[in-house]
Amino acid sequence: MVIGPRYAAISGWGMALPERVVTNEELARRLDTSDEWIRSRTGISQRYVAAPDEYTSVLATRAGRAALERAGLPPAAVDMVIVATCTPDRPFPATACTVQANLGIPGGGAFDLAAACSGFVYGLSMATALIKSGMSNCLLLVAVDVFTHLINWNDRSTCVLFGDGAGAVVLRASAEPLGLIAANLGAWGEGEMLMAVDAGGTRLPLTPDLLQTGRQYVHMNGREMFRHAVRGMAESAEQALAAAGLRFEDVALVIPHQANLRIIEAVARRLGLPLDRFFVNLDRYGNTSAASVPIALCEAVEQRRVQAGDYVLLTAFGGGLTWGSSVVRWG
Ligand code: ACO
Repeated sequence: MVIGPRYAAISGWGMALPERVVTNEELARRLDTSDEWIRSRTGISQRYVAAPDEYTSVLATRAGRAALERAGLPPAAVDMVIVATCTPDRPFPATACTVQANLGIPGGGAFDLAAACSGFVYGLSMATALIKSGMSNCLLLVAVDVFTHLINWNDRSTCVLFGDGAGAVVLRASAEPLGLIAANLGAWGEGEMLMAVDAGGTRLPLTPDLLQTGRQYVHMNGREMFRHAVRGMAESAEQALAAAGLRFEDVALVIPHQANLRIIEAVARRLGLPLDRFFVNLDRYGNTSAASVPIALCEAVEQRRVQAGDYVLLTAFGGGLTWGSSVVRWG
């Protein structure tokens, strides 16, 4: 029981990837594209693509189990599960309920959160608020997407960009000032059609005729998304840092959403920071949507680029449009 100010320390982390790797060369064999184009325009060399039996809850369960093991906690310790995803197993019930059952978590709440690629930073804020308010003592947050499910594999302008995966953290109530210290969340609904899956919901239900139009797949205005992503991540990172009362010099590592290396380079330039202050792993994974930030966080911790007591700045951007940044004190 934490008396006094409550914080939400990250006490476990884990990730999961599908088995199959699809390289740029493989895509170039069946599409009018090339390894050179994909690498030079995006920085991506390969991505992991889920098999039919590696659907969202399967990857989420694997990442969640790894995070619980790392935290050294039994499933019964968890009193809340949040799954951030825009590719749930089903329209309902929530994938979080499936993950709760798969992990043998006996009770507490479970719900999904939809904020596209910003899902993890949104989820971290919601999770921390639940713990700070006393509504949760131990929470599992999983950010997962099987985004390739939404892709038209004949559309070279989108299919080369995305991959599948899951990342998870366990948050526990703590009296020490650890975990999320400050955050900034934003959205601009007017930009909803800059990146969207138009059909498949209540507005445009799937019909045999509609399936012929391809509107069940993601479509995107790449150039506009690029522009908004750079501005959204840079400005929200600055605002979150200011809210924490910190400067960039105080931050050990910036972990940005992994969509495109050129976006990360442009954010770094805009913030006047060298690129080596940013964690980059998109060459191996592509854009894994909500999972990209927690997968990068897991790898950064495993590579010891984040140590106990360090401040880490997470920043993300996605469909919605949504964006957000989190200042986290690692402990
Ligand atoms: N291979 C070869 N040529 C291609 C490919 C491809 N895979 N894709 C597009 N091209 C062509 C285009 O058809 C175009 O040809 P044209 O000039 O003859 O018309 C040319 O390449 C240039 O296309 P642009 O779209 O201008 O290329 P750009 O340099 O802008 O790169 C990209 C496109 C990579 C999509 C870039 O705009 C981008 O990364 N945008 C951000 C997208 C993003 O990150 N979205 C996700 C954020 S939200 C989330 O993560 C859920």
